[in-house]
Amino acid sequence: MSEATIESVSHENRVFPPSEEFSAQARISTREQYEALYRRSLEDPEGFWREQAEALHWFDAPETIVEWKPPFAKWFVGGTTNLAYNCLDRHLDGPRRNKAAIIWEGEPGDIRVLTYFQLHREVCRFANALEGLGIGKGDRVGIYMGMVPEAAIAMLACARIGAVHSVVFGGFAADAVRDRMNDAQAKAVITQDGAYRRGSVVALKAQVDAAVEQCPSIEHVIVLRRTQNEIEMREGRDHDWHELVANSSSTHQAPALDAEHPLFILYTSGSTGKPKGVLHSTGGYMVGTYLTSRYVFDLREEDTYWCTADVGWVTGHSYIVYGPLANGASAVMYEGAPNAPDPGRFWSIIERHGVSIFYTAPTAVRAFVKWGDDWITKHDLSSLRLLGTVGEPINPEVWVWYRNVVGGGRCPIVDTYWQTETGSIVMTPLPGAVAAKPGSCSLPFFGVSAKVLREDGTEADTNEGGLLCIDRPWPSMLRTVWGDDERYKQQYFSRFEGKYFTGDGARRDEDGFFWVVGRIDDVVNVSGHRLGTAEIESSLVAHALVAEAAVVGIPDEFTGQALVAFVTLKSGNTPSPELADELCQHVGAEIGKFARPKRIRFADAVPKTRSGKIMRRLLRDLAAGKEAHGDMTTLEDIGVLAQLREHEEG
Ligand code: WTA
Repeated sequence: MSEATIESVSHENRVFPPSEEFSAQARISTREQYEALYRRSLEDPEGFWREQAEALHWFDAPETIVEWKPPFAKWFVGGTTNLAYNCLDRHLDGPRRNKAAIIWEGEPGDIRVLTYFQLHREVCRFANALEGLGIGKGDRVGIYMGMVPEAAIAMLACARIGAVHSVVFGGFAADAVRDRMNDAQAKAVITQDGAYRRGSVVALKAQVDAAVEQCPSIEHVIVLRRTQNEIEMREGRDHDWHELVANSSSTHQAPALDAEHPLFILYTSGSTGKPKGVLHSTGGYMVGTYLTSRYVFDLREEDTYWCTADVGWVTGHSYIVYGPLANGASAVMYEGAPNAPDPGRFWSIIERHGVSIFYTAPTAVRAFVKWGDDWITKHDLSSLRLLGTVGEPINPEVWVWYRNVVGGGRCPIVDTYWQTETGSIVMTPLPGAVAAKPGSCSLPFFGVSAKVLREDGTEADTNEGGLLCIDRPWPSMLRTVWGDDERYKQQYFSRFEGKYFTGDGARRDEDGFFWVVGRIDDVVNVSGHRLGTAEIESSLVAHALVAEAAVVGIPDEFTGQALVAFVTLKSGNTPSPELADELCQHVGAEIGKFARPKRIRFADAVPKTRSGKIMRRLLRDLAAGKEAHGDMTTLEDIGVLAQLREHEEG
């Protein structure tokens, strides 16, 4: 093994094939069928993607399928289309016309259903309103909203007229809005008076006011009234959403846009540094999200599909709005927190709307485990037929819990691996075709040539950990970093020439299954063993009393680095030195002595990004007794850090 190899220490070997019933009705029913299609997608990418793209509407058919001048790709060159047209107009001539497109539930309990006909109308009206303000093709538009249908309407209206949206998660504050609007030189920003969150009102408009003071490019602010909190409206600059659309026509002809027309910018910070404006374009992203939604979620006409992500993240873009709507699906959208008014909220939503496909994040599943099974079992979840996760590696024990308690032991789970940059899912089990292994994102999706590479660029052996790369372009890949081609090259294509590097570590097992072991930045070196944190964390989470664990390395004079584990216990358990000892023994027994944490620190919570990923960077500083440094704006709850520090002193 080379020095830079990441050692994999997981012994997970359980396998969960889909039920015969599920496979029988699935779009892809066997591994052979998957393999055949996958092979074709790599051997004949032109033919494969041309065929897939034909399911969607093009004003002009693409001439060239892909043009690859590394690291820059163009897809469906010469084709013209319109994503909003494909999400809406395309469905109006058939039986989907009056089908629910968005089934929305507000946090206070209000419910709105928008059919395709109605959603199309609203999008047209808003598109006309934007054009009326002089916003057009190529202009950048900020969207800083909560989880209301108007957020989707705003996105679709931008896509329709060819304006490039930049959604900023509603949990960010003024500075983040300002920096993103300035970087993109946005002309307008769309917001709300306030958003409901866990019973209180988050004053979004006030943040926009503060931000826009320092955004010279912003000419217009459009404000949706949702919470009726008091706001200031600046004459000439600020417009009331409802007044604008009241005077707008509900017909709008979708223009034909070039396949490579920029669709949206979405800022992603990674673990350090200035946020990068990941740029996606129209045609490739459309085909990618359409196809993955269809096959990964095995979408059927009668499904009620719910993705719990926020529209502020790429998951909300691809799998609440564009992918499901391009398929003519019915998507649930929920405004509030999972524990508002109590931890039963998600399960009551599933019961109330008959949700059949449920897609969430490991951080949420760990919270469900922590809150206890009773909240779940008292609801009728028999409508569910498929579960999914995204965002982090899922701990195998948590996966098994999810399958048994939420899925009643009958629903396949799709552990979907992808990134803001990849635009759509790049690795996943196909639910009817592939026997899942808990903790593995399984196999690459069609057209994705995923490789685990050593530092020297050669391919790693079976089960040898290395760097996860994709060595060919795929339709929904990012096109560049907004305004910074150099950073795009540096960040993604400098490690291996012409190959996209994900920043993640992974291994591939004897079945060809991929196991992501976490971000390369988080790899720890203990006595010469390079370990991804995910597997040690999973070992801790497999202990009956542990709800969540975050493992980091601190400098150690004997071992190079030593492991410190931050551990959150399940409700009702008390930390003790004996338990700490027991947990260390447990990891030693499961993985090996070398992986035993030097210290366990019990915590009520661990710091996470606002999208729910554990922020090990901050824990590293804390564990080493340093002040936390670097970008803190993505931290979900600053109080968590203070609390961890207090625990240390106390
Ligand atoms: C991690 C979210 C393991 C990974 C769509 C990736 C995962 C980063 C998985 C992207 C998964 C996402 N298994 N790790 N199924 N899904 N990740 O940009 O580290 O918010 O690089 O996109 O999340 O996060 P992003």
